[in-house]
Amino acid sequence: MNVVIIGLGYVGLPLAQEAVRVGLNVTGFDVNPRAVDGLNAGRSHIDDLTDGDIEMMVESGFRATTDLAELTGDNAPDVTVICVPTPLSESDGPDLTAVKAATDSAAAILKQGALIVLESTTYPGTTDEVIRPMLEKATGLAAGIDFHLAFSPERIDPGNEVYGIRNTPKVVGGLTPACTDAAADFYGTVCDTVVKAKTAREAEMAKLLENTYRHVNIALVNEMAIFCHELGVDLWNTIDCAATKPFGFQAFYPGPGVGGHCIPIDPNYLSYKVRAELKHPFRFVELAQEINSRMPGYVVDRAAELLNTDAKPLNGAKVLLLGVTYKKDIADQRESPARPIARKLLQRGAVLAYHDPHVDSWQVDGRDIPRAASPADPADLTILLQAHSAYDLADIAAKAHLLFDTRGKISGESVYPL
Ligand SMILES: NC(=O)c1ccc[n+]([C@@H]2O[C@H](COP(=O)([O-])OP(=O)(O)OC[C@H]3O[C@@H](n4cnc5c(N)ncnc54)[C@H](O)[C@@H]3O)[C@@H](O)[C@H]2O)c1
Repeated sequence: MNVVIIGLGYVGLPLAQEAVRVGLNVTGFDVNPRAVDGLNAGRSHIDDLTDGDIEMMVESGFRATTDLAELTGDNAPDVTVICVPTPLSESDGPDLTAVKAATDSAAAILKQGALIVLESTTYPGTTDEVIRPMLEKATGLAAGIDFHLAFSPERIDPGNEVYGIRNTPKVVGGLTPACTDAAADFYGTVCDTVVKAKTAREAEMAKLLENTYRHVNIALVNEMAIFCHELGVDLWNTIDCAATKPFGFQAFYPGPGVGGHCIPIDPNYLSYKVRAELKHPFRFVELAQEINSRMPGYVVDRAAELLNTDAKPLNGAKVLLLGVTYKKDIADQRESPARPIARKLLQRGAVLAYHDPHVDSWQVDGRDIPRAASPADPADLTILLQAHSAYDLADIAAKAHLLFDTRGKISGESVYPL
């Protein structure tokens, strides 16, 4: 079976790896020539795959290309999976530019009887209302009759060592029941469990429900963190206590703000759809957005308050930020709250340094932030933003003059939790 994966990033590459592993003939198509050349030379550009993983894929027949002409004729795919980014536009609405470009590419290599699957996170209706008409217009073929079309939400969790493509259940929803079956057959080769949604719309919505659920619950504990501090209640201990209930409660933890590609962005796709079609707001998402986006400002206010207890103004204080990636133990900095926090600290005159075992150099608004030699370097205030496993937290706590722990991981004198 010829499989083409369009978009070789955090989502496309792990899927390509699993498809190669089960013996499918996989080619990756990407518009980034550097990424493509690197992959063909056995180099990985994402956290979850090592160079060794890519070398093994290449040895097993995987190759990457920027040239669609290589994917026509005998090489035309039986299955094409689209895994390109879905960012926000200037007005915070969906930006489907990459999805549409990838759909044009999929159309150019589409053959009768093939399956096309969209994995990029998007609002319900995209597969049917955007992708289907584009493919049909470009090829003259009819979706559900001449080719199969489906949506399958991607559930990659970068840095997760337990759940990967194989053991994470995969939801698939087609334009027609036959499209769903075709997608289920394909994913059944790379995933242990395939779950059939009623249609593509339910599959699209399932992904947004998952991410909105996290977004809203994180906002809940973030708001609680702010008033618990004022009430003198330790929210971290409160959550630990509540989490002992064996049913009906799932623990979420406060933090310095939400980051990554999913949580801060995907719920906007859903609120856009509700607003555009139904003309009313999706209030939970908008409230969560508002609370979570205020956390970086809150962290900076608390930093100033802490320095004040030490008779120091934030202006001129040496502040060391520990962990600037959006998530523990990975190098991905997309939408990381560390950046707005640094920006606000700089605006208020702080003298900044950072440390992160996964980030060799770090810029904020084009300005280089100096990298501390060690996470225990002297500073007026050290702020733990990401508790990477490589950090010796007890050592950091023992050596820091004043430590602001936004992850609730450390206790001790001179340590102040969010
Ligand atoms: N990264 C995650 O943890 C994650 C989790 C769940 C869902 N998603 C969703 O998966 C989708 C892809 O995200 P990602 O994290 O893999 O992105 P990514 O930025 O890591 O990779 C996307 C790749 O697509 C390529 N690309 C862009 N436009 C293209 C085009 N027109 N044709 C071919 N290639 C193109 C880019 O060069 C890049 O290599 C997004 O919709 C995202 O919301 C991501």
